[in-house]
Amino acid sequence: MATENEPESHEGIERAERIWIGFSLLLVALFVVLVFIAIGAHGTHVGKSEERASPGEILAQPGFTSPGVEQIGPDKYRATVVAQAFSFNPSTIEVPAGAEVEFRLTSRDVIHGFNVADTTINVEVIPGQVSTLTYTFDEPGEYPLICNQYCGTGHHNMVNTVRVTDPDASEASDGAEATAQAGSDDGVDTADGGGWEARGASVYGNQCVACHQAGGGGVSGAFPPLAGHAPEIINADGGRDYLINVVLYGLQGPIQAGGQTYNNRMPGFQRLDDEAVAAVINHIVHAWDNESALPSDFEPVQADEVAAQRETALEAEQVHERRPDLSAE
Ligand code: CUA
Repeated sequence: MATENEPESHEGIERAERIWIGFSLLLVALFVVLVFIAIGAHGTHVGKSEERASPGEILAQPGFTSPGVEQIGPDKYRATVVAQAFSFNPSTIEVPAGAEVEFRLTSRDVIHGFNVADTTINVEVIPGQVSTLTYTFDEPGEYPLICNQYCGTGHHNMVNTVRVTDPDASEASDGAEATAQAGSDDGVDTADGGGWEARGASVYGNQCVACHQAGGGGVSGAFPPLAGHAPEIINADGGRDYLINVVLYGLQGPIQAGGQTYNNRMPGFQRLDDEAVAAVINHIVHAWDNESALPSDFEPVQADEVAAQRETALEAEQVHERRPDLSAE
């Protein structure tokens, strides 16, 4: 019969189809199981759905209009951070050791990374999304915070610091640090009669420490050391004006420092006022025992010297051309 073969061959196709359908369903089930295993084992940092919106809407949320660290309970802090090419706001995150810190992160432009050295903190910061995570720093210290997602030409400059303070340290020093943090971009002013010392340390802590580090040692291969190096520059011919120009206009091009070559770009800080620029230069040529390499009649850099260099309006590459030739000394 003609009809006898038809159902048989039809059924044969169905069996093969059923096998393949079953196989693909199995694969889908396997993938779902793997996702749940991954979430269970490693956690997930993807924002909750109510925290997904247009980047503009998220940046308009109360927390993100003024990023920073706030205390939200006994031993609980919230750090709200906005990443953008090529910086993190706030520039320094300061929290006490032992406290639970809730990080809320978003990006203003492209995807950035938020990676804190020596911790398990390593998340993507995505525009239009809030990444949250909670972490407790056990040890006081300075933790480098870096962007580890390539985000453009200034990616390597996206370096900051998480400063974890010792809650048992004296109240006085805590208070002083809090004041410096709460102040404007460059911290305390000289109204208290502290001269350049207090202001220089404060500006350094807010603007320079991320790259040149608290000990002035820089970061090998990336950011040159200032300890042991700043005095030889300021002592050289034209070194004073050169240092002022570096702080004002930045620096781009290969340099030698401490026996190593560095070829990077430092941003300029024209937004700092003349006194702040003078103070931070005086700070770096005195700090970390640099003082011992200064001549005994060294005159601290004055604000009017900085004001004079503002007229030159250089590019970072032009500053590089004016670098004193240290090998000639
Ligand atoms: Cu931001 Cu790389």
